[in-house]
Amino acid sequence: MKLQLALDDITLIDGLVLAEKVKDDIDIIEIGTPFIIEEGMRAVREFKKYFPDKEILADTKIMDAGAYESEECFKAGADICTVLGTTDILTIKGCLEAAQKYGKQVMVDMICVDNVPKRVAEIEAAGVDFIGVHVGVDQQAVGITPLDKLAEMKKASKQSKISVAGGINPETVKRYKELGADVIIVGGGITHAADPVAAAHAIAEKMR
Ligand code: 5RP
Ligand code: MG
Repeated sequence: MKLQLALDDITLIDGLVLAEKVKDDIDIIEIGTPFIIEEGMRAVREFKKYFPDKEILADTKIMDAGAYESEECFKAGADICTVLGTTDILTIKGCLEAAQKYGKQVMVDMICVDNVPKRVAEIEAAGVDFIGVHVGVDQQAVGITPLDKLAEMKKASKQSKISVAGGINPETVKRYKELGADVIIVGGGITHAADPVAAAHAIAEKMR
């Protein structure tokens, strides 16, 4: 099981400093969607330069032009890019083709997918093997958590590694571990904690 630190609402310098402090507790560094909006692929390049031994995920949430946009991520040094599960299967296949060309990975983010079993069958038939269960910040604000969606995904998926994201913190991480997530993604539960280093360490300890 891996821990992914999502860097969303943070500056490049603060993100690099935080990652340096928590690097022993995390496996994957996510350059989050708002971070990419702010800094672009420069952030991916900088993190890969300073943390060459960590996996770098670019949370691009690609919706179109799958081959072109994912190739931009891989050229910048990303090990994983994300594409939305709600988009056209052609876009997802474009990302997979680019990933194969560069020897990298694609994670399909299932945020707002209605019929999960049907979509999982379609994308796995297309060759997807890494799927993300995700309850976004706007849904979190009305009290929704990814617990039920993770349980549903574990039943639906036949071949994929499963990540989970959506407001996970040191108090709740154990339940996601018990449900069998392969990658646990934590953003605000670390970056917004009073002591982010202690929060990352507490989460990593509970995952062990
Ligand atoms: C939002 C995201 C976040 O990176 C993801 O939800 C993790 O952050 P948090 O733990 O704060 O929910 O992709 O769209
Ligand atoms: Mg994210």
